[in-house]
Amino acid sequence: MTRASAPAPSQDDFPNAFLDDVLSGLSQPQKSLPCRWFYDARGSALFERITALPEYYLTRTETAILERVAPDLAAMMGPDAVLVEYGAGASVKTRILLDAAKDLRAYVPIDVSEGFLLETADRLRADYPILEVRPVVADFLSEIALPPLSDPAGRRVGFFPGSTVGNLSDADIDRFLRQARRMLGADGRFILGFDRVKPLSVLLPAYDDAQGVTADFNLNLLRRINRELDGDFDLSGFDHEARWNDAASRVEMHLVAHRAQTVRVGGQTFDFSPGETIHTEDSRKFTPERMKALCARAGWSVEALHSDPDEAFSVAVLRPA
Ligand SMILES: C[S@@+](CC[C@H](N)C(=O)[O-])C[C@H]1O[C@@H](n2cnc3c(N)ncnc32)[C@H](O)[C@@H]1O
Repeated sequence: MTRASAPAPSQDDFPNAFLDDVLSGLSQPQKSLPCRWFYDARGSALFERITALPEYYLTRTETAILERVAPDLAAMMGPDAVLVEYGAGASVKTRILLDAAKDLRAYVPIDVSEGFLLETADRLRADYPILEVRPVVADFLSEIALPPLSDPAGRRVGFFPGSTVGNLSDADIDRFLRQARRMLGADGRFILGFDRVKPLSVLLPAYDDAQGVTADFNLNLLRRINRELDGDFDLSGFDHEARWNDAASRVEMHLVAHRAQTVRVGGQTFDFSPGETIHTEDSRKFTPERMKALCARAGWSVEALHSDPDEAFSVAVLRPA
């Protein structure tokens, strides 16, 4: 396992970064918390349960696209390629690419969820014994150096599925894609999964499922603050809410205080009035034109765009412009 070189934070730096983010986020007029803190071991496991929910069309739609175009993606990668996945999670969709690209040299999964990442890497080593698997614990928004590989390798290919790009602001997408371009080099390619604009009757249930798994995932952030930062959130005082922000073309997740309360975290107190929310995640929905413009701004052009028949989800293959 490799830790990212400076200035990327290592796992050991995360407690302070977590505390800083929570104290500053809860001090804003609109309280907010960065969504990367969802992913402790329990958060990562809950996310995997979300991907299997009937309402969560994203995973099954993207999986079907990847299965259909996997031979093309394997041909594009070529021999001895290095696949770098940003926010790898359980690397479930990755297996579609690993199965299609038999001559892939190495796989570098990057994630903030350390234990989950290392367990996933162990499972992949067992299932793909010839593949060099080199996990990196890091924030993918920081500058990350590729870990040294045992043999010279071919093309470097980035993989960013799961609509994780939709959690980022325009500025973060720009910074992230520029860094990926530097990491992957002049011959690099980038496989990007993004969710499309669609009716709210489909969008909102995907973030507010009938079984309440997404609610549990959202509230788990408060549980994590209580455990890791000595907080005293009463989880029964907050409700999960998914709401559409039309101007920003995004589903927002909030935690809504349903009564007045005062919470202590890290020696500071924060007051909540009834109905006040903590904004915990954005899931942006894009048109292909908007995504192409964001990629172009960061120095990438769209080489191919693959979508499902209903155009609910798209997988773009990018090349340096
Ligand atoms: C929406 S899930 C997607 C997981 C998987 N790639 C998929 O397609 O199902 C986001 C993943 O990115 C990770 N993650 C979120 N923010 C991150 C960040 N800033 N740096 C590194 N990993 C991050 C989470 O731990 C989680 O595994």
